[in-house]
Amino acid sequence: MDSRQLVDLGEFGDAFRRDPHTVYARLRAEGPVHRIRIPGADESHRPWLVVGYEEARAALADPRLAKDATKVDAAFFDEELIGKHMLLADPPQHTRLRGLVTRAFTMRRVEALRPRVQRITDDLLDAMLPHGRADLIESLAYPLPITVICELLGVPEMDRAEFRKMSTEVVAPSSPEAEYAAVVRLAEYLTELIDDKTRTGPTGDLLSDLIRTTAEDGDRLSPGELRGMAFLLLIAGHETTVNLIGNGVLALLTHPDQLDLLRADMSLLDGAVEEMLRYDGPVENATFRFAAEPLEIGGTHIARGEQVVIGLAAAQRDGSRHADPDRFDIRREPRGNLAFGHGLHFCLGAPLARLEARAAIGSLLERAPGLALDGEPGEWLPGMLIRGVRTLPVRW
Ligand code: HEM
Repeated sequence: MDSRQLVDLGEFGDAFRRDPHTVYARLRAEGPVHRIRIPGADESHRPWLVVGYEEARAALADPRLAKDATKVDAAFFDEELIGKHMLLADPPQHTRLRGLVTRAFTMRRVEALRPRVQRITDDLLDAMLPHGRADLIESLAYPLPITVICELLGVPEMDRAEFRKMSTEVVAPSSPEAEYAAVVRLAEYLTELIDDKTRTGPTGDLLSDLIRTTAEDGDRLSPGELRGMAFLLLIAGHETTVNLIGNGVLALLTHPDQLDLLRADMSLLDGAVEEMLRYDGPVENATFRFAAEPLEIGGTHIARGEQVVIGLAAAQRDGSRHADPDRFDIRREPRGNLAFGHGLHFCLGAPLARLEARAAIGSLLERAPGLALDGEPGEWLPGMLIRGVRTLPVRW
């Protein structure tokens, strides 16, 4: 591979989906920045991919890389159909949007959710464990984060199976047409949800607080931004954590020495979750950024308007940052993890995601001493945004 040439990632076929790390390692060996074609994407769409750790970290915090596509006359259909949200905005709009919800996700507020998160985990395990075997995604990894984020936002009981299909299609589309259809359905769903909650009146949850803000002070949150916020919090609040639990348990079950270490000393759990985030984190690549002005990354010239994808999975396995990067080592020094991003858009939900993953994985290991894989994991999700398996059969 030559770092100046176009790398068509579609050419690696299913092997890239199953194991992108090998491809990223080959790219990293050639240079920190590459022109790529994303599998299944339009022929004309040729973003840059940053694969080196130092370059990725710097790019995540570089204000010349904008999130607001309108700055470079580009547009995203999900923004048109759903509305603007934090990951599509730059300061000062980003600052205002984030400021409306930061308080709900601080360490302290999240810590107060611990008993509830543990209770949901215990109930899910009570239902799962008598069966002796299960799909871990369906029984624990999915229902835990979706229940927590729905309770926080005040989303009533919904058709979870239908919602899951729509939302997974948005973050890991099986085709551009399926993605478009899912965004349309999700936009309708969110409009109805907000209408229903507006009729019900304040219920003390995050979404009804935001609805009140919109009604009383539309300058702070427009109706489009309200829908964008609900979309982002609902989707980012669960599609990621599902796969931290799924990929994390898979890593443990395929590295028995590390599983034994953890079982022997559960005080290693927090560090183990950090290593799960590094080794096979749920966000494979950060969301798109645009060069608002010409710039250089790792010696590569990026022209104004060009799109940049920052490779989190690739950066996390950069040997110049982490020794022996392909080894899953739960006692590794966790500093400098990029799994939650870096800079202004650093994940708002990181404390919540960590709390949920620690509760789920800690309780699972305690209550299922003989936990093992029960056949091959299901297929890896398509696309380059989210890394995770559709199913994870386990027994105990
Ligand atoms: C293991 C679970 C999670 C991972 C790995 C993760 C990862 C990330 C990453 C990498 C970003 C930055 C994307 C970029 O810069 O392009 C991000 C942003 C964000 N995440 Fe998470 N996330 C997780 C869970 C959550 C949860 C539970 C929430 C719940 C509220 C959440 C809400 C957000 C929001 C709102 C943003 C946008 C922040 C901004 O633009 O200022 N995430 N997340």
